[in-house]
Amino acid sequence: MESDWAAWLGIILRFVHVLAAIMWIGDSLLFTWMEFHLIKPSGQDPDTSKLGSLDMLHGGGVYHLEKRVLKAGEIPSPLHWFMWQSYTTWLAGFVLLLTLFHSGNGSFFLDATKTTIPGWVAMCLSLAGLFGGWLLYDGIWRSPLRKHPWLALLVSLLFLFTAAALYNQIFNGRAVYLQIGAMMGTLMTANVFFRIIPNQRKFLAALEAGQAHDLELGKQAKSRSLQNHYMTFPVLFLMLSAHFPQLTGADWNIPILVVLVLSLMVIKWLMNARQHFHDWLPCLGGTFLFSCAAIFIFLTLPRALRPPATPEQIQIMAGRQLFLGKGCAACHMQGTSALAPDLYGVFGTTQQLTDGTTLLADESYLRESIRTPQTRVVKGYAPAMPAYGEQLTDQQIDSLVAYIRSLAAPP
Ligand code: HEC
Repeated sequence: MESDWAAWLGIILRFVHVLAAIMWIGDSLLFTWMEFHLIKPSGQDPDTSKLGSLDMLHGGGVYHLEKRVLKAGEIPSPLHWFMWQSYTTWLAGFVLLLTLFHSGNGSFFLDATKTTIPGWVAMCLSLAGLFGGWLLYDGIWRSPLRKHPWLALLVSLLFLFTAAALYNQIFNGRAVYLQIGAMMGTLMTANVFFRIIPNQRKFLAALEAGQAHDLELGKQAKSRSLQNHYMTFPVLFLMLSAHFPQLTGADWNIPILVVLVLSLMVIKWLMNARQHFHDWLPCLGGTFLFSCAAIFIFLTLPRALRPPATPEQIQIMAGRQLFLGKGCAACHMQGTSALAPDLYGVFGTTQQLTDGTTLLADESYLRESIRTPQTRVVKGYAPAMPAYGEQLTDQQIDSLVAYIRSLAAPP
């Protein structure tokens, strides 16, 4: 029953998280699109409060939109605010992350070939990244560096990629991508909560008090909004990366992450620049091809030299390679048992089979499950797993079994 509740909670949280994220990112994309398409007022217009206007065809009519500076005491009503999509996305995502910790006590994040630290340490490191990341990023963009946005961006990205490389020392590849996505998502919501909305509240309060529209506050809010906007594509990709085990589990997963984040930001920038940059489309195509080629090279490049490992570790690493390379990971996705049983912690547990019997999941059972999965089928699943007996050598099956054994068990 308990696992039923967890499963239901997981379904609801995931759906709310994705739905709110679509609404939020949709807004971010539309508002930035409008910003880049505003037509500046002609010099003859006596009304200097106008910043620009725009006509958009939709739903059988034309929206005439005007952006302007407000005069003291002149606050339109009703005035629409945009923040709840962002808060909802983050809250649902954060609770989801906590359920992942809860289900495996942090072991969901770890990689047995890299570390033996306990799960709760992984959990603390992950949370420290979410909150520490914000303090660092916010510090950069409040320091004098913000006067040089390109430099501030460079420093922020350097910290982000360093964090990815450090997490990769202990986390498994999938968890590293998720962690970096969650860190960027946290920056985005914290931008809304701590900087954008308070700044807007402040300038509205000033207007109400009869003071002039404080453009500096608006500018700061706009700069953070724009940073959020450029994070949308990379965050979306990282959040979906559980479906791309080839990338997350690659030997060079961190350089691949760097290429992905940078190219998606450049692509968004080129899309925004199309009004004034004639060659945006060929450049966009070029960025796409270049990043695909770079990722392809990283996928084929041999593994970097690591300090010599023990024979067991080497076998586990070989097993992990096979697990990714032979497509096992596509069905046996870590953290979910939707398509196939989650193999985390399976070793040494009692398995319920479709024929009503139970059996200890020991090495010989694992071997048989890989060679001829149809012999004994796990309860609740169709006999959908292909037989690998012909495709894999005994040595390869031994490596796979060693890898599955190494997957940390939930407590
Ligand atoms: C097409 C999806 C698919 C692929 C690919 C696949 N499996 Fe499976 N696997 C399943 C399903 C479904 C089950 C549960 C039914 C059964 O026992 O046959 C399963 C069961 C297992 C079990 C028994 C798990 C338990 O809880 O008792 C092991 C071990 C296993 N697979 C390992 C592997 C390995 C190793 C590979 C790659 C060489 C692999 N699988 C590839 C779908 C898949």
